[in-house]
Amino acid sequence: MNRYLLPVSMLGTAVGGAVLLKDYVTGGICPSKATIPGKTVIVTGANTGIGKQTALELARRGGRVILACRDMEKCEVAAQDIRGETLNPRVSARHLDLASLRSVREFAAKIIKEEERVDILINNAAVMRCPHWATEDGFEMQLGVNHLGHFLLTNLLLDKLKASAPSRVINLSSLAHVAGHIDFDDLNWQKRKYNTKAAYCQSKLAVVLFTKELSRRLQGTGVTVNAVHPGVARTELGRHTGMHNSTFSSFTLGPVFWLLVKSPQLAAQPSTYLAVAEELEGVSGKYFDGLKEKAPAPEAEDEEVAQRLWAESAHLVGLDVAPEPPHTGQSCPR
Ligand SMILES: NC(=O)c1ccc[n+]([C@@H]2O[C@H](COP(=O)([O-])OP(=O)(O)OC[C@H]3O[C@@H](n4cnc5c(N)ncnc54)[C@H](OP(=O)(O)O)[C@@H]3O)[C@@H](O)[C@H]2O)c1
Repeated sequence: MNRYLLPVSMLGTAVGGAVLLKDYVTGGICPSKATIPGKTVIVTGANTGIGKQTALELARRGGRVILACRDMEKCEVAAQDIRGETLNPRVSARHLDLASLRSVREFAAKIIKEEERVDILINNAAVMRCPHWATEDGFEMQLGVNHLGHFLLTNLLLDKLKASAPSRVINLSSLAHVAGHIDFDDLNWQKRKYNTKAAYCQSKLAVVLFTKELSRRLQGTGVTVNAVHPGVARTELGRHTGMHNSTFSSFTLGPVFWLLVKSPQLAAQPSTYLAVAEELEGVSGKYFDGLKEKAPAPEAEDEEVAQRLWAESAHLVGLDVAPEPPHTGQSCPR
């Protein structure tokens, strides 16, 4: 019996340590208990993964939640699941394909016409490391969906958000933005050899830069905007990567994944926190890693890059470039 005592207690310590480490690495749950009755929320890419769980969390807190998805069949199923689980009947499904500017404009026009208010916009949808695909408008797919589609959507909904103030925009970025670089000579990967990883990182850096510049433009309006890395989660995001499809890597990396990877429920906590927490009222232009504010990569803090990206994005999606607000450091209502 004694000869088993040491190995058994070592195993117990290792398992206990691993569980504690997993809790630490994967972060906690939203500390705010705030409810949002009477508030209207839009979550893009809400039929699965982090988006679906975020929509569920916000429906549970009493919001009127609009799931904005490209596949209406999946969207209706998700909305039904959420209504069933939360017993909140105010959860609906709408069509939005971020890879089509026409679809983004149609979606926004309907929201503006049919919804009294938009209090929370969660730009969650994304595609990661897909092949060298193009959107309907000819943009590289990852930049097109992750950044340009959301850029246009947000801009089109700004008047509604301002009229509903205090209101919030939450942009899902990723830690991957630190490896990103905005290549203004070839934003859409027409000149360089396509690199799926670098294209994803560029798109997620663009999301943080968009957040910073939008926040600057929204000073004094009561609309805040923040970017967030939700943590690494077990979702369908890796569907285009070899690792996601390979049984060998799933098997060999399985234990590491178990330790480091969150459930979609846990990964939805940061978006939920940014959407509801009373203590975040007025907080804008920040980058959150999970539930904690953190400095993003240096390029994400570069105001010149942010302004240039805004101008390029506005040009690409066909929005008029608004005049620059002065850099006074004071609030500038617009
Ligand atoms: N999971 C992670 O480890 C992780 C880490 C860092 C950041 N993030 C970020 O978290 C967010 C949510 O990711 P996830 O992990 O939940 O991924 P996911 O499970 O793959 O969900 C992505 C969602 O985006 C939708 N989508 C893709 N292309 C679209 C388009 N053209 N128009 C409208 N919707 C579109 C998908 O719809 P379909 O189902 O129809 O494809 C799906 O609903 C993303 O912004 C991602 O970059 C995730």
